[in-house]
Amino acid sequence: MMITLRQLLDHAAEHDYGVPAFNINNMEQGLAIMRAAERCNAPVILQASRGARNYAGDIMLQHMIKALAKMYPTIPLCMHQDHGNSEQTCKSALDYDFTSVMMDGSLAADGKTPADYAYNVRITKTVAEMAHKRGASIEGELGVLGSLETGMGDQEDGHGAEGVLSQDQLLTDPDEAVSFVKETKVDALAIAMGTSHGAYKFSRKPDGDILAMHVIEAIHRKLPNTHLVMHGSSSVPQELQDIFNEFGGEMPQTYGVPIEEIERGIQSGVRKVNIDTDCRLAMTGIIRKIAKHHASEFDLRKFLVPATKAMEDLCAERFMRFGCEGRADKIKPLSLEKMASRYLSGSLDPAFAV
Ligand code: G3H
Ligand code: 13P
Ligand code: ZN
Repeated sequence: MMITLRQLLDHAAEHDYGVPAFNINNMEQGLAIMRAAERCNAPVILQASRGARNYAGDIMLQHMIKALAKMYPTIPLCMHQDHGNSEQTCKSALDYDFTSVMMDGSLAADGKTPADYAYNVRITKTVAEMAHKRGASIEGELGVLGSLETGMGDQEDGHGAEGVLSQDQLLTDPDEAVSFVKETKVDALAIAMGTSHGAYKFSRKPDGDILAMHVIEAIHRKLPNTHLVMHGSSSVPQELQDIFNEFGGEMPQTYGVPIEEIERGIQSGVRKVNIDTDCRLAMTGIIRKIAKHHASEFDLRKFLVPATKAMEDLCAERFMRFGCEGRADKIKPLSLEKMASRYLSGSLDPAFAV
């Protein structure tokens, strides 16, 4: 059953849990996530980046999602565009049956240059109107992802700010967050607080100086009814780094976002937690292991079956830790038409405590 991001996150907020949003590029990742969801009776957010759409192709992705929804009819499934860079990217995602889009107006359409507030509001509002007319949801982003340790913008496969950023840019301003949500009517707000995409987030286990959880807490106090989104939220577990390195990988020691910090975020309004790197690492570590131990093996399935299982286990652990267990069959997804009429009536407008 397809569901919109808004309906799913409203349920998560009502019952105090968070939902991992896993990036997918291929069938194996889709199966891993849905198997984990079935094991935990958890609702699912699958998200595709622009890179994933290029890799798999829109028609392939569209049919894959349809197939997954059919194979797992009891699991509410939200299909989300990750880091849309333009109105056109978001529109085409909706045309291919995505139920939610992220318009990332924190960066210009090139995906590299930090954009100003006025541009961000303008483009996000335009996309919000388009999405809501169709009943679909929208996530916006305020603040630029990047490291508080180095001031470097986030760069992952060509997406992310270039150059050194100021603390002002790297930390979402709570007052600005209030006006941004008011003006754009986003359903969910991604914020910047020191996380970045990829494996190399922190050079030490993060404390409050480099992972600014207090920013989330301050935003949540001002926007208690807005669903917050943490990007760059892979934990990059030590054991996955060790497997990767033991079998010929070269990953310098690194640190991700500890799961306890994400749990803390969930207590402060974080409802969507973006995870890509951990899934990649879980799969590629096992692929390395098989390649090393079974050097004569060339049946791709012998690599992909255990790799898919490793990702399934990782996803199941995240579902459990974020409180998703047992939620799926409690949710009755509404059609896009129903959601569209709710937006039209104003009943889904953001509410404010300030
Ligand atoms: O947004 C960041 C995700 O890790 C997606 O990465 O653009 O390589 O698919 P990607
Ligand atoms: P990670 O690289 O930490 O998995 O973050 C993924 C993400 O934020 C996708 O939007
Ligand atoms: Zn992201």
